[in-house]
Amino acid sequence: MRILVTAGPTREHIDPVRFISNRSTGKMGFAVAAEAAAAGHDAILVAGPVSLPTPSGVRRIDIVSALDMLAAVRGELDGADILVMAAAVADWRPAAVSALKLKKSAMAPSIPLVPNPDILREVAPLKGGRVFVGFAAETGAPDAEARRKLADKGLDLICANDVTAPGAGFGTDTNLVTVFGRGGFRLELPLMPKRDVAREIVRLAVEAREARDGR
Ligand code: C5P
Repeated sequence: MRILVTAGPTREHIDPVRFISNRSTGKMGFAVAAEAAAAGHDAILVAGPVSLPTPSGVRRIDIVSALDMLAAVRGELDGADILVMAAAVADWRPAAVSALKLKKSAMAPSIPLVPNPDILREVAPLKGGRVFVGFAAETGAPDAEARRKLADKGLDLICANDVTAPGAGFGTDTNLVTVFGRGGFRLELPLMPKRDVAREIVRLAVEAREARDGR
C-alpha cells in the first residue's frame, strides 16, 4: 500500500527571520513513516522543519508552512491508500509576510493573524476509499475531544495523547496513545517507544483499509 504521512510543525513566517510555530519535533510522524516502510509499504513523508534524518526507504518532501503542507498533501493524495496526519499544523499564520526583516522600531506590538486551512477538512472531499488517520494532542483526558474530532474531521482512526503526561507528547522517544475508531473502537496502548506506537498505528490503518477493500 502507499502510505502518506505528515510530520513535524509548520512554520508561519512573519518576515525572513521570524516565525510562529510549535513544539513538535516530528518524532511520531517520522516513526510512522519508518514503520510503514519497514512493513514493506510505499511511504511518503511530508515533513515540516525538523532535525531528523529521513528513515530508510521513505520518500521525503520538505515543506515550511501549513499552505505548503496542504499543497504537498493534495499533490500526493491521489496515489495514496492511507493518509496519516501526524503533523502539528499551526492554526494561524500572519496575515502578511514581509519580504524584508522588519525593523524592531517599525514593528507593531501585535501581529494580525488569519486562520490556516484545516488540511484534513480540505482533503475530505477527495477521500474516496482512503483511510484517514488523525492525531489529537490534548492536555487532560483526551477521550471526549478525540471522539469529537474523529466525527468532525471524518476520520477512520484518531490517535489521542495527553501531551502533559510523563513520557508522552512533544520531543519524547516514548508516547502514551489511545486509538479511537468508528463504531466505538478504542485501543489504549501502554507507554512505549514511538516506533512501537507507530507499528500499531500502521497495522490498524492497513487493517481498516483492507476491511474497506473487502479483503
Ligand atoms: O483540531 P486539531 O488541530 O487538534 O486536530 C489535530 C489533527 O488535525 C491532526 O491530525 C492534525 O495533523 C490535523 N490538522 C490539520 N490541519 C490543521 C490542523 C490540524 O490537518 N490546520
